[in-house]
Amino acid sequence: MTEAPRPETGIRIPDDLSGITAEQYRASMRHYPSGVTIVTLNSPTGPVGFTATSFASLSLDPPLISFNIADTSSSLTALTAAQSVVIHFLGEHQRHLAQRFARTAAHRFSDPALWSALDTGEPVLHGTPLWLRTTVEQLIPIGDHTLVVGRVVKVHDDTEEEPPTAPLLYYKGRYYRPTPLADDVD
Ligand SMILES: Cc1cc2nc3c(=O)[nH]c(=O)nc-3n(C[C@H](O)[C@H](O)[C@H](O)COP(=O)(O)O)c2cc1C
Repeated sequence: MTEAPRPETGIRIPDDLSGITAEQYRASMRHYPSGVTIVTLNSPTGPVGFTATSFASLSLDPPLISFNIADTSSSLTALTAAQSVVIHFLGEHQRHLAQRFARTAAHRFSDPALWSALDTGEPVLHGTPLWLRTTVEQLIPIGDHTLVVGRVVKVHDDTEEEPPTAPLLYYKGRYYRPTPLADDVD
């Protein structure tokens, strides 16, 4: 197997993976369901944020998480300069925010009723069942994205509040709420 050099990252990607088309890649990824997050941060020009389903837990000790940001994202410059971000785990009642933060960047924070800033500057979206504040530990350019590794320094958890809020899910281009399977067996 030959490998194509990736001088910008030092990471080598086997060229037998280049046999699939972009359509095949996209179509297969649509079958992978995920939770929905919004990543927010403060910047010298104001609040920045975007919807992201690439969130993943990474390490318990130390407590690390990751997400990916596209090279084409209007949030990339601000993110690469940021010391910290807030990651919102959206509830099913927040689909409108998931859509808002994936559309026109200039409108994302235009309604002041939707958010307020922490003392540390990051915007927090009201009504979010759980959010994490993380420092930015590593930025790893890879392919057409940058992998962001964050260290969790604060957890804000309202998930025990009544009524309970179900998480927002994303699958095959649509938003869902979770439904437990009947007759769960141990
Ligand atoms: C459900 C969903 C998940 C997304 N996940 C990511 C993601 O993980 N990383 C990313 O860079 N963009 C992701 N996007 C796209 C961004 O939210 C945003 O639309 C895109 O970066 C374009 O924003 P811009 O106009 O500010 O560049 C996602 C969009 C949607 C609707």
